[in-house]
Amino acid sequence: MPAITEQQILKALENVIDPDLKRDLVSLNMIKDVSIDNDNNISFSIELTTPACPMKEHFKQACTTAIRDHVPHAGEITIDLPAKVTSAHSCGHHGEKENPLPEVRNIIAVASGKGGVGKSTVAVNLAIGLAMTGAKVGLIDADLYGPSIPTMFGLENKRPEMVNKKIVPLEKHGVKLMSIGFLIESDNPVIWRGPMASSAIKQFVSEVTWGELDYLVFDLPPGTGDIQLTLVQTLPVNGAVIVTTPQDVALSDVAKAVTMFRKVNVPLLGLIENMSYYLLPDGSKDYIFGKGGGEKFAKAQCIPLLGSIPIGGVVREGGDTGAPFIIEHPESEPAQAMNKAAAEVARQISIQNAAACGCGT
Ligand SMILES: Nc1ncnc2c1ncn2[C@@H]1O[C@H](COP(=O)(O)OP(=O)(O)OP(=O)(O)O)[C@@H](O)[C@H]1O
Ligand SMILES: [Mg+2]
Repeated sequence: MPAITEQQILKALENVIDPDLKRDLVSLNMIKDVSIDNDNNISFSIELTTPACPMKEHFKQACTTAIRDHVPHAGEITIDLPAKVTSAHSCGHHGEKENPLPEVRNIIAVASGKGGVGKSTVAVNLAIGLAMTGAKVGLIDADLYGPSIPTMFGLENKRPEMVNKKIVPLEKHGVKLMSIGFLIESDNPVIWRGPMASSAIKQFVSEVTWGELDYLVFDLPPGTGDIQLTLVQTLPVNGAVIVTTPQDVALSDVAKAVTMFRKVNVPLLGLIENMSYYLLPDGSKDYIFGKGGGEKFAKAQCIPLLGSIPIGGVVREGGDTGAPFIIEHPESEPAQAMNKAAAEVARQISIQNAAACGCGT
């Protein structure tokens, strides 16, 4: 049996195109560690740009097919799928602005013009969803007026430790956490004036030992005020995820949030429609707030629709009792929809990073 060469394998894999980046996996430098044993069994890695890549199985399948089609006498094929999360600033092409968190690869703002649409619910489950794929994730509760992260994680009376005058973030479900709720008594509300709010957010960034993170998620308060502006002025935010409910897309508040991010040059990763429908016991969907609102809004704004999360008892209970649904009820429809949305967010970031640096690293 003629021996197979690495060259033959790479040649075959040039036929596999990344549909997002529109280039083949070999020229994208994603194929690593090719090895061939004496029986022509082949093994290699496809290095993904995020462990949350929704195309994992597609790549595996397409590579296997390409080798079977183009490399005669190929034995068993073993493909590993490690991930190295990309960052728009890792290439040094975004060096204009000083970056106080150089070890954080990507910063995601979860926002909406309107209150009560599920921003915190989405931010919490997005962060956990990304961490469940193996990514290193942090979550900042930037809602100083109504922090909800302590309750949503069941950490109401917990206080973070101080080490060398820096705050060590609490950690749960694989996510490093910071919230004003960990620092002040909940029955002692603070009245935040603009500059105070800004400096609190800056302290969450500079006085907390975040370490190396693939994704740092910000759960923002509703609206387009001081906190939103401080965030985009302090950090290189990769993109904003806009959350809305189907009936609220018609309101100008959501469009206002989109416009604000555009004005300050923060890319829009896309829209997550929350409370999209209610799943009836027979499996059919009741679109109680109207159907297709999010999709229409996303189209009109030229942004991707990243996901549609149904209304679910598990979602609300999870938020109230500190047992996030993505962990507690992983098989539920809301959890599956959330996992998909998390993968889409990661995918949009990878696409953007590749475009920003032109090299995909
Ligand atoms: N898909 C859903 N199904 C059922 N309940 C939900 C869903 N999404 C959110 N909720 C519930 O709606 C309420 C508001 O959600 P959440 O606190 O996440 O909104 P928010 O936009 O962060 O609000 P705020 O503007 O006050 O920060 C919570 O009680 C939450 O549990
Ligand atoms: Mg909130």
